[in-house]
Amino acid sequence: MSAGRSCPLSYRYSPSVFHADASAQTDTLYVVGGLYGNTAALDAVLARFDAEPGNKRLIFNGDFNWFDIDPDNFVRINEAVLAHDAIRGNVETELDAQDIDAGCGCAYPDWVDDVVVQRSNAIMGRLAATAAQFPPLRAQLTALPMWKRIDVGGVPVGIVHGDAHSLAGWGFAPEHLQDAAHLAEAVRAFDASGMRVFACSHTCSPVLQSLIDAQGRRCIVANNGAAGMPNFAGVQEGLLTRIAVTPCSDSLHGVQVDGIHIDALPIRYDAARWQAEFLAQWPEGSAAHASYWKRISEGPSWRIDQALRLGDAARAAFARHA
Ligand SMILES: [Fe+2]
Repeated sequence: MSAGRSCPLSYRYSPSVFHADASAQTDTLYVVGGLYGNTAALDAVLARFDAEPGNKRLIFNGDFNWFDIDPDNFVRINEAVLAHDAIRGNVETELDAQDIDAGCGCAYPDWVDDVVVQRSNAIMGRLAATAAQFPPLRAQLTALPMWKRIDVGGVPVGIVHGDAHSLAGWGFAPEHLQDAAHLAEAVRAFDASGMRVFACSHTCSPVLQSLIDAQGRRCIVANNGAAGMPNFAGVQEGLLTRIAVTPCSDSLHGVQVDGIHIDALPIRYDAARWQAEFLAQWPEGSAAHASYWKRISEGPSWRIDQALRLGDAARAAFARHA
């Protein structure tokens, strides 16, 4: 297995771990995955969170680092993250990696080209060199947990970077959730974990997917895609997942489970500022520019209508359990 393709054994956990007591109870939870070192997006997230009333928490669910090879940016991102709840992604885990086969730790599936994987490994090497300048900060990042459970309005929410089995799992990728066998596997993960919502990131493509568990209850995979990069064609916005007892007026789209509102919330960051910061760190000819500039400047090909999947069965179940 080549570097960047494998999933290290240390990344794995059982869906049954989520039966543990919740680490916190809250009324409003922001799940911010895939910030990728975008300080403009960080500012927008924190400003939006500050405006939320009441009992609230914010969790960064991994890969908050990626493009932030500038030491000042690296410190800024991580000091802000560590002031809130956080779990580590493959990027933070591999900042101190001994396993050379893991590369960036992405465990990229077959549909991702080899050249993209090689560039990711190169980006990981540059970022690790920056992190090595800050040993105490790096130690805090690599010691973060791989998952958390936080209950929102009494509804259990599993927070992961990848999926219910692995820190870098692709089981909650929208591409996989289109496949019946993978969908069945995701349902089994809900059954085994007791969760009603899994909030994830890692795959960089957002999806809000309804599933029906063995008890006939509606469950949701809320994959926020990327907080720090555009998620849809022609749209310069990141996304976060907001899970709350109250609705919000600026949701891109959302669903409800047991009265809890689960929404994809746009992160309207200063795109010009972020692009300038990116180019200062990753100019034309660099690995990150080759892999990401088109997405950062134009957005991916993914469309908004592809990211909301309720399905007839889910709607029927919702009517029964609403
Ligand atoms: Fe990741």
